[in-house]
Amino acid sequence: MKVLRIAHVAVAVSSLDLAGAAFAALGLQVGASELVASQKTNAAMIPVGPDNLELIAPAGNEGLQKFLDRRGPGLHHICLEVDDLAAALVELRGRGVRLIDETPRRGAHGFLVAFLHPAACGGVLVELCQAAPK
Ligand code: CO
Repeated sequence: MKVLRIAHVAVAVSSLDLAGAAFAALGLQVGASELVASQKTNAAMIPVGPDNLELIAPAGNEGLQKFLDRRGPGLHHICLEVDDLAAALVELRGRGVRLIDETPRRGAHGFLVAFLHPAACGGVLVELCQAAPK
């Protein structure tokens, strides 16, 4: 398993428009919002140099809605890009790492994604991703 980079740092928000405007005020370009059906969220990427922030708002995602109700908007997860997501999940499971997603699923922005349990990484929700084959 090889981690290539931080693909994005995700911020949970109630409104992509309001949060997007706040980041646009910093001179950043907020990408178009995308409904991610598999995760029941709306997502928008904000490129920051070679890195990205991701704004996510619930579109039926109860876990994300609960997060917002309890804590309000804020940092939600970090996403690490790996070279081979399916192989990484097999390797992590073999090491006893707690996974939320046992197999890759289709995420936002043309990536395959899988989440690890927050208990696996010091209380931080970690998403792994791999650019999906075209
Ligand atoms: Co993400």
